[in-house]
Amino acid sequence: MAAGDILEAETNARDLRASPRHVALIMDGNGRWAAARGLPRFEGHRRGVEALRRAVRAAINLRIDYLTVYSFSAENWSRPREEVEMLLGLLHRFIRNDLAELHASNVRVRVIGARGDLAPEILDLLREAEQVTQANAGLTLVVAFNYGARQEIAAAARALAEMVALGRLAPGEIDAEAIAAQLDTADIPDPDLIIRTSGEQRLSNFLLWQAAYAEFVFLPILWPDFDEVAFIGALAEYGHRDRRFGGLDAAAPGAKTAS
Ligand code: IPE
Ligand code: IPE
Ligand code: MG
Repeated sequence: MAAGDILEAETNARDLRASPRHVALIMDGNGRWAAARGLPRFEGHRRGVEALRRAVRAAINLRIDYLTVYSFSAENWSRPREEVEMLLGLLHRFIRNDLAELHASNVRVRVIGARGDLAPEILDLLREAEQVTQANAGLTLVVAFNYGARQEIAAAARALAEMVALGRLAPGEIDAEAIAAQLDTADIPDPDLIIRTSGEQRLSNFLLWQAAYAEFVFLPILWPDFDEVAFIGALAEYGHRDRRFGGLDAAAPGAKTAS
């Protein structure tokens, strides 16, 4: 192998190692985007859906396996009724208009979040998106809708408590793995990278359990301005991070011999 080939192979291997398998997006700043232009908040949300389309396309181009998007939190119900209806309407339209294209792009749609108190027409739509695309093997698009991490963990605790009450599980068998298996994300790997736009630096009840070892990138831009360039920039930043998972950096002295 020529020196150039070795270098290229090494670079590819490094790229592969450095690229995240699962990226989660906190799509924040639609309201501020609109306010800065003297437009109604609705316009910010509408442009936010366009940014979401761009993000999905970019994730496909960048060969990311899982993309989770925070579309509506369990706490977002506390917004004015007109805004909540507008957001539900946009989700409705996004799935109606984009499902065929997502399916054609081999995207598998998954929805996480509480379903119990959702209107039947929304439930049917979410179910349809999952069913139609369930056999697809490309990008998995995880839509967090009516999602709250504390509520998700509480539901997992309830499910485990019921198993204990029925005598199917001993309390001593409850470990991190048993809890993870009860979460909405049971069959989805933990996010490697969480990107939040709008300059806010918080999780807002998003993937609290799953984010234990995630890397965070906070972008100052507002969500409607998010594009492939911003996405690649966040991935580049991720590529410079040294993920240790409590162990030693692979390059640290003694790391290879320590066990
Ligand atoms: C994100 O934008 C969309 C949702 C939370 C549904 P916001 O509506 O939170 O926009 P800001 O934070 O008010 O600018
Ligand atoms: C988080 O954004 C939820 C979504 C992006 C869907 P928020 O705008 O609701 O978060 P806070 O209220 O600023 O923490
Ligand atoms: Mg916000």
